[in-house]
Amino acid sequence: MSRCASKELDPGLRRDDEEIFWNRITQSGIKLLSIATRYAVFGQPIAHSLSPRIHASFGAQLGIPVDYRAIEAGPNDFADALARFAEEGGRGANITLPLKQDAMAHCADISDRASRCRSINTLTRYDDRWHGDSTDGVGLLRDLLLHLDFDPNSKNCLVLGAGGAARAVAFALSDAQVRRLAIANRTQARADDLARALGAAPRVDVLRWNDLPDTSAFDLVINATAAGHSDASLDLPRNLVTKETLVYDLSYGPAAMRFVEWAHANGARASDGLGMLVEQAAESFLIWHGQRPETTPVLAEMRALTGSRGA
Ligand code: ATR
Repeated sequence: MSRCASKELDPGLRRDDEEIFWNRITQSGIKLLSIATRYAVFGQPIAHSLSPRIHASFGAQLGIPVDYRAIEAGPNDFADALARFAEEGGRGANITLPLKQDAMAHCADISDRASRCRSINTLTRYDDRWHGDSTDGVGLLRDLLLHLDFDPNSKNCLVLGAGGAARAVAFALSDAQVRRLAIANRTQARADDLARALGAAPRVDVLRWNDLPDTSAFDLVINATAAGHSDASLDLPRNLVTKETLVYDLSYGPAAMRFVEWAHANGARASDGLGMLVEQAAESFLIWHGQRPETTPVLAEMRALTGSRGA
């Protein structure tokens, strides 16, 4: 029994009261021990998420038993679902669409990188509180460098979109010292806001969507819009790319198909965001378990599973 517990024992307790006290302590101890540590991804829709498979593969690789499941929750029921998860032993959670911004309200503190992009994809529970982080940006950079042989340093980059995903990516590219970071968004005010948040560095500029046909080609074009999820076409001009350009969609699966096909039709190299998904998951795994898994075999496994090809 811990010193702390015995300190709390009232010296005036009668013997039978004392017994009840220790029984309570022991029972709660047993209850605590019997709660397994759990991990999960929250989002909506979530049924087809690959995250449980990715974390299971990481765990198998490193001999760490992982209980990681997908929990369906939207903005209205996220708070209750997260509280229930914590009560049931939840130690870590990934957060995906549409909850990445809502998750901030549940954090006792937030990492610098997450507060800059105002987006959370990783929650970690300690001291009975949630601590928020964002591993999306580093996930993208690691995918570019490790799996796509593309170093964004000193490159001309275009980010399409200005929502949470675009913000994470824009800060990561800015940190990687790109030569130019152009941002274009359907609603220009959000692109202006993102450029301001980036510190209006001379290398950051906002392009009007209508001006894209008059722009010269980029080394990297990233689709961070949600257009692919509603099968909407971005209707992009071909002058944005050459055959040297890497075109990258943050989505994977059917949502990335149109953009990847557009890139191929214009002779550019293209990748979906499956590598980023695996890399951000590895970064979360490192935070929770203290070990970084090998991502290359897990990415290959996920590509085989989904039939998706790398660039
Ligand atoms: P996320 O957190 O995934 O980035 P979000 O914050 O809702 O989601 O942002 C969605 C992004 O996709 C926005 O940049 C949005 O543009 P608006 O700011 O104009 O809404 C963009 N988007 C969604 N559908 C689009 C479409 N059909 N064409 C162009 N951009 C689109």
